[in-house]
Amino acid sequence: MSSFETKTISADGTRWRVAMNGRAGPVLLLVHGFPLDHTMWRHQLAGLSDVAQIIAPDLPGYGKSESGSRPFSMENAADGLVRMLDALKVESPVIYCGLSMGGYIGWQFWQRHRERLAGLICCDTRAAADPTEVGRGREMMAARVRKEGNDFVAPAMIPKLFAADAVAAGSEAVNETSSVISATSAETIAQGQLAMAARVDATEWLPEIECPMLLVVGAEDAITTPTEMCGMADRITGANYCELASAGHMAPLEQPDAFNQHVREFIANRI
Ligand code: MLT
Repeated sequence: MSSFETKTISADGTRWRVAMNGRAGPVLLLVHGFPLDHTMWRHQLAGLSDVAQIIAPDLPGYGKSESGSRPFSMENAADGLVRMLDALKVESPVIYCGLSMGGYIGWQFWQRHRERLAGLICCDTRAAADPTEVGRGREMMAARVRKEGNDFVAPAMIPKLFAADAVAAGSEAVNETSSVISATSAETIAQGQLAMAARVDATEWLPEIECPMLLVVGAEDAITTPTEMCGMADRITGANYCELASAGHMAPLEQPDAFNQHVREFIANRI
């Protein structure tokens, strides 16, 4: 599926598969959503390598990375990413770019390791914790996937991830994402759901974020809506905010040219 370089590295007590591209510019750390892997960033790995050194890992348990040595949580994932950067000898602050669950981990990266951040790009994500009924839904999905296996997960998630036209057309991105979800183990899905249900609310942190920040959302995102993301941007001094037309929850994959252009401008003007 990918043509860029991938390596396997040992860090934080586990083995990570990491895709890399680009030799010049700031490090751009791309953190995927749930239950996906680094291939959701293939257009950024290919299209931004002239302006950044791109590092796109599979999180522990996802893609071809081994499960973590510690329980999966937003906090442990943020700490693990720092140890992964250490293993790659990345010492300068990075631009952290996370989609959805990758964004939830991004808040913890800021909270716990802000000295490692040159900028923060949050795509199709939210700062708020789950309402009670959403948390219950995650617990039910975790129990079901452990009992039945993961066959039901991709058909249930795909219509919520992409803009309606892409789902109706069965686009290549839709089909490839479906394959990635189906290849994710039931236990990784269960642990991911429970970890997201347990995540803390980061809303009160937003006004404290001082690093350059860009928020990007698909105009048709039904999971983390433009209204919610625009409200987050309003709470962060100086944050850039943009909506991408004809994109749902997977904006960087659905509209890569527009997404990459916003990232280029962010790097040129804010970093
Ligand atoms: C994701 O894309 O990472 C998920 O939609 C996040 C979530 O379930 O809240």
